[in-house]
Amino acid sequence: MFIRHCEAYLDQNRLKKAVAKTAVTYLLSKIEASSIVGIGTGSTANFFIDELAEHKDSFYGAIASSNASEAKLAAAGIQVFDLNSISDIDLYVDGADEINPQLQLIKGGGAALTREKIVATVAKEFVCIADSSKWVHKLGRFPLPIEVIPMARSYVARELLKLGGDPVWRQGIITDNGNYIIDIHGLWPIEADGTLEKAINQITGVVTNGLFTHRTADLVFLGTEKGVTTHRYDGNTDL
Ligand code: A5P
Repeated sequence: MFIRHCEAYLDQNRLKKAVAKTAVTYLLSKIEASSIVGIGTGSTANFFIDELAEHKDSFYGAIASSNASEAKLAAAGIQVFDLNSISDIDLYVDGADEINPQLQLIKGGGAALTREKIVATVAKEFVCIADSSKWVHKLGRFPLPIEVIPMARSYVARELLKLGGDPVWRQGIITDNGNYIIDIHGLWPIEADGTLEKAINQITGVVTNGLFTHRTADLVFLGTEKGVTTHRYDGNTDL
């Protein structure tokens, strides 16, 4: 049982490395020496940083979506800037917890959703990289992360209950912004019309929610057993 679990883990890492490599090749075809690149958070983003480090002289610097990624980038010798000193991010590369055929996402499994949404919003292009286990027909099996102001935690949880889910406080986790995370279980299926993302944002005390139904990915590289597949949404996906 343990050996099978290890094999699955190694397989997933192999797929993550493959998409990280593909994303670096894509990035190199799009950027210039003056480019600023946005870098996400999580295990897939970490593989991406490892690959990118070999090409650190091909671009100007990076914006990180978490303190952890910032430290990893700095250790790799990539200059990291404060977003307030930068007006343009040419390309943002990050993982996801779920991806639907419209390239809408659930993010925040690593608690970095707020900075991830900010970097994705500023970026001209958002490239999402993931292994094929993240591809779903409808979002919502993965518990939806919500970043909340600590004093509003109980109030926000009561309001989230009214939306039909089961909010669970991710105890022991403090975000890079000093806030708490509540994960909403049992929301499947989340409709693709964007109403839930807006409704959660309306609750006072919510900083951000992990639904990316408005700022979707522009491009997804998915690591599958048959190789890396490329996905764009042309508005015609049969739902
Ligand atoms: C971080 O908060 C998340 O949004 C990650 O991007 C997401 O959890 C994917 O992580 P892995 O690449 O580790 O699966």
